[in-house]
Amino acid sequence: MPPPAIRIEDVSFSYGEVRALEHIDLEIREGEFVALVGPNGGGKSTLLRILLGLLEPDSGRVELLGRPPEIGRRAVGYVPQAVHFDRDFPLRVRDMVLMGRLGTGGTRRIGYTREDHARAEDAMRRTEILHLAERQIGTLSGGQFQRALIARALTSDPRILILDEPTANIDQRSESDIFELFRALNARMTILVVSHDIGFISRYVDRVACLNRTLLCHETREVDQKVLERLYGMPVREIAHRH
Ligand SMILES: Nc1ncnc2c1ncn2[C@@H]1O[C@H](COP(=O)(O)OP(=O)(O)O)[C@@H](O)[C@H]1O
Ligand SMILES: [Mg+2]
Repeated sequence: MPPPAIRIEDVSFSYGEVRALEHIDLEIREGEFVALVGPNGGGKSTLLRILLGLLEPDSGRVELLGRPPEIGRRAVGYVPQAVHFDRDFPLRVRDMVLMGRLGTGGTRRIGYTREDHARAEDAMRRTEILHLAERQIGTLSGGQFQRALIARALTSDPRILILDEPTANIDQRSESDIFELFRALNARMTILVVSHDIGFISRYVDRVACLNRTLLCHETREVDQKVLERLYGMPVREIAHRH
């Protein structure tokens, strides 16, 4: 049996006094498309940081494709939360996407190679933003900017794509379009997508993992009302009203 794409074994983590994750167990097979959902502050980004080897768990361990994160993450395309980007910075879409090629070459080099450019073009084509290549990133819509971030992550041809709240600040129609894109990408790679909002995403994914410090469910795409109430700490009717 090949190792799972992602293996999280009994992981706990605290930031000082703040217990962010408690005894998390989760395995994601190669080829799966999994959503990690839960309220703000539930520990989703923390779990991703541990997966990528940016934080060390207090106990437990994680593996990517059977390897420790420092090695396994070379096979990962990571799309951080878009809110952390300064979009006023003058940068063309093409150049931002090309940055995904930095660090893939092994040796230090000056300028991009022909292959780097070809990979960037291919990534922009797959995410349907090739026509925006010369635009400044500050002029893009939320959905277009998100696609540019995804394109950047695709330039290293990852086996696993991990995205942190990729549709947090975009309208519902662009959100569905982006999930259609994930579905197409899923034919070639494992996908783990984080969302604070369970919304409609269970329609697109194979499984939903519910995280609020502990993992409340992860076996199917169905999330029952009891779990939802425990997850968001309020009656489901109120959750529905927030949409
Ligand atoms: N750098 C940090 N220092 C201290 N506490 C943090 C830090 N980052 C996150 N936390 C806390 O850890 C918990 C989980 O946060 P986070 O993983 O960002 O949740 P989510 O991504 O689900 O919104 C929250 O209580 C948050 O306040
Ligand atoms: Mg987060």
